[in-house]
This record gives sequence, structure tokens and C-alpha cells, in this order.
Amino acid sequence: MRVLLVGSGGREHAIAAALKRSPRVDKLYCAPGNAGIRRIAECVNISTMDFEALTKFAQDEKIDLTVCSMDDPLCAGIVDAFEEKGLRIFGTRKNAAIIEGSKAFSKDLMKRYGIPTAAYETFDDPEKARQYLETAPVPIVLKASGLALGKGVLICQTREEALEGIRELMTDRKFGAAGDQVVIEEFMTGREVSVLAFVDGKDYKLMTSSQDHKRAGDGDTGLNTGGMGTFSPSPFYTEEVDRFCREHIYQKTVDAMAAEGRPFKGVLYFGLMLTADGPKVLEYNTRFGDPETQVVLPRMKTDIVDVMDACIDGTLGQLDLEFEDNAAVCVVIASGGYPLAYEKGKVISGLEFFDGRQDCFCFHAGTALNAEGQIVTSGGRVLGVTALGKTLKEARAAAYEAARQVHFDGQYMRGDIGKAIEESEAI
Ligand code: AMP
Ligand code: GLY
Repeated sequence: MRVLLVGSGGREHAIAAALKRSPRVDKLYCAPGNAGIRRIAECVNISTMDFEALTKFAQDEKIDLTVCSMDDPLCAGIVDAFEEKGLRIFGTRKNAAIIEGSKAFSKDLMKRYGIPTAAYETFDDPEKARQYLETAPVPIVLKASGLALGKGVLICQTREEALEGIRELMTDRKFGAAGDQVVIEEFMTGREVSVLAFVDGKDYKLMTSSQDHKRAGDGDTGLNTGGMGTFSPSPFYTEEVDRFCREHIYQKTVDAMAAEGRPFKGVLYFGLMLTADGPKVLEYNTRFGDPETQVVLPRMKTDIVDVMDACIDGTLGQLDLEFEDNAAVCVVIASGGYPLAYEKGKVISGLEFFDGRQDCFCFHAGTALNAEGQIVTSGGRVLGVTALGKTLKEARAAAYEAARQVHFDGQYMRGDIGKAIEESEAI
């Protein structure tokens, strides 16, 4: 079958690798792809938001299945655009992608259906938000309701910081329309776990758990990033947590969306915080996480095309979703300076270390080819080096060993990805 994948990040490289493993895929295209993806797929230079050109390409090339797992195109209706033309696509329709596209919507959904989450209020008037903050306890969390590249969340330690945050989001409109509505939320503490699920509108199948490291610096210090590394499974996602979430969160969310007339199909990402009062939903995403996908999909045994078909056809209940009984760690190698200013165009060496390997992979996130045909850096997060192991400890050692084989000027990585595993062993 002929498959088109939409996107160009490390997540897409991991999805492309999983598609490539399927014996059902004869030809794989990626729009627009990157220097790593082009080694396993034919890259076509079409923007992820150009639905007209993407659907035309799918028609002209007789694509059997298109796959999209990016927030912007999903929230803007890429699935609807394909379906209107009778094209088969795996992803979430616009009216359900709102679960990520509007935090005001998702918080109201959770409140109405009794799904555990932090207490909150929503504001579209900055004056009312300021008044509320006068008596609200600190620390407190401000969230731009719309899509803001994962940067629209401000954790404010003092009232002054919170007032400053309201100015940034609502008055200065730092994230544009995304901040016209702001959710002000109770500050919670606890470990964070990411759980991804395939959903077919009524049933869900959980993927293995994982954990992201969002801050730029070791020991979870520094600025928030798109994710500096991940590991899977999370030892903190215990059977007890799983039982609680199955009872109070997962099916309830799927049912709530169906009851709202917004049946959810695709990948639903549950960002959970394990608080002293039990697990609570931090956020929903309507897609695979990045870089969670880079540790989850390499462990998936089931053919990804079979799973995507089942989601589209509403037959997920009959499918057995299986994962290897192993572990994976992904270390992100970034450009020095990220998430602030950084340089691009640095030549990357050492990538041949990964050729033909089945136990470690180098997923490209921000790479391109220069005029001489060399692979160079083109983004903040450049590579995600994933290693598999029998245990998390083994996978962690192997991931760092592999990451040390790669070089470019100004490269930066955290040294403590997966270090939390050691704490879990001490529990
Ligand atoms: P979100 O995009 O909503 O997941 O927020 C990004 C990050 O901000 C999360 O991964 C948490 O680390 C942090 N965060 C979000 N909401 C809260 C909250 N209510 N309490 C504490 N930390 C939070
Ligand atoms: N890793 C977090 C996300 O994909 O939103």
C-alpha cells in the first residue's frame, strides 16, 4: 500500500520507521520530511498546512493512507479536508482536535464529566483575571487557551509574576489569539507521566507509558523546551495508577467526547500528574507526543498500519495491541542556546554509527542537507538518540553511549535523562 506521512520532526521520523517496518507498506512518502526521514521515505516539498496541495498529491499518487500527528494541521482540519475528498487519513477531525486546541474546552469537558484535573477558572477579560489573582493562592498556573507551541504555560511563584503573565498573554498578546482566553489553574505537585492511547471513537487501546523531561537543564532546571529526552516504560506508572486512570480518566474522556458529538479518533495523549490526591490530567494532546513517540513506537510489536486501520474503521475493540517487554531511553541532542537563540547549518558527523542497527536509532528532528549534500543542523532539537535495553538502566547506558558517537559544533544534551529510574529503585 502507498502511505503519505505529514510532518518533519523527530516524532515523524519514529512514525516513518514504524510504518516502514510494516510489511503492508510498499511505498512511503513524507511531506516535507527531513534529512533523516529521506533515508527511509521519499520526501515531497509540501507544507503541512497546505491541505489543497496535500490532498492533490494524495489523489495524484493514489495514496491509500495518509497519517498526520501534528497539532496545527489537525486543529485546522486536515482530516476533514482529506475526508471531504474521499481520502483515507489517520488523525483526529477538527471538532475533536479541539481537546488540544482549546484548554478552556478541555478543562470544561473534564469538569462536566467529573474527570480529575486541577481546579481552574477561565477568563477572556484581563481585568477580571487580575481581580481574581488578588485573592488566589500562589504558586498559580496561567495557560494560554490556544495552541502556543507548548510555551503558553506560565508557572507563577508570586502574585506579581502572575499579573505580569496576564499582561504578556492577554494584553501584549505574546502568543497572539492563543492568549485571548486564559485558564488560571491551581498549582499541583507530583511526577508527570505521559500515556498515549489509540482511539476509534468509542474504544481505546493504551500504549506503554513514558516520561518526558521538559526543562532544558539537568535536575529539571532552566526553561521549558519541547522535550529533552524520554524513557519508557515509566516505573511510576504502577498497576494502581493504571487501574485508577482506567476507571476515572481514559474511557470517561472517550465517552465524553462522543457524548458531545465530537467522537475522538486517532491518538489521544494524556499528560498526567501523579499527585498526593491521585492522578490528575494536566493536558490532553490530539497526537503522538514528541519525544515520547521515539521511545514508545520502537517498542510496539503490533503492525502500526493494522492499528491505524482499526481506529479509522472503529474496530479497535477486536485488536490486540502488544509491546515488547523491554525498555527504551531517548536522549535529545540540541543546538546550544535552545530554547532561546541558536545557530543552524552545523555539519553533523558520526551518524553512520546507527546504520543497520536494531538496538539503537537516531531520529532526526531538526536536520537538513546543505549544498554539498552534508547533513546539517536546522532546528533547536536536532536529533533524538533512542536505545533499547532489557531494562531501563541498560537502555539508559546504551542511549548515552550512542549519543556520544554524534558530533556537531555547539551540541548540547542533558546528562540526566532517565536518572529518575534510580530513584524509583530506591522506593
Ligand atoms: P501543559 O502544556 O498544560 O502540559 O503544561 C506544560 C507543563 O507545565 C506541564 O508538563 C507541567 O510540568 C507544568 N504544569 C502545567 N499545569 C500545571 C499545574 N496545574 N500545576 C503544576 N504544573 C503544571
Ligand atoms: N512531549 C510533550 C508533547 O508532545 O506535547
